[in-house]
Amino acid sequence: MKGCDRMYNINNVIAARNDLRDYIDLNNRKLDHVNDHSLRVSEMAVKMAIAINLPSEDITQILIGSYLHDIGKIFLDKEILDGNLPLTPIQRAEMENHTILGYEYLKDITGLDKAKEIILMHHEKIDGSGYPKGLLGYEIPTHVKIVSICDSYDAMTSYRAYKKCTLSHAEAIKELLENKNTQFDSDLVDIFIKEFHFNNSNI
Ligand SMILES: [Fe+2]
Repeated sequence: MKGCDRMYNINNVIAARNDLRDYIDLNNRKLDHVNDHSLRVSEMAVKMAIAINLPSEDITQILIGSYLHDIGKIFLDKEILDGNLPLTPIQRAEMENHTILGYEYLKDITGLDKAKEIILMHHEKIDGSGYPKGLLGYEIPTHVKIVSICDSYDAMTSYRAYKKCTLSHAEAIKELLENKNTQFDSDLVDIFIKEFHFNNSNI
């Protein structure tokens, strides 16, 4: 990545994001919706990281990790990626495996430890019911918990052809609140709401 300044602002976040896009071919049509989703998640996650004063190095890792959190999906069959319901149990297991595939894809790249944790753990839940490892809240790092909230919010509010419904901003916030301490970290949900609830244009 070019020029990671110690002081982060949205302009160098966007510049870094564009560098990443140049590094990794996300222009594959199969990944169009993954790419758009990842851009939105990375912007929200970086804003949250800045809001809680994480160090700039962590913000960089969150930017990279959130932008690439679903990179493992490049290895999935289009039939699974399209999400035409219902998935068979085998297809569901393959879909869930995108976390491990993404981690494996980048595991030899040094200096990306926290970004790789995001890729591996972003579907873990506080109560241990997530995947791939079923980690409990105290085992899931803060940078991963941040991306998990932003990822879920965007998945709930963005249109996908296979979904029965797309939630409004208010409905998605309600879902986040209802899943505090089961799926999501309670304090971080409050921070997300503080950052984004009162001004939808912030997202
Ligand atoms: Fe994912």
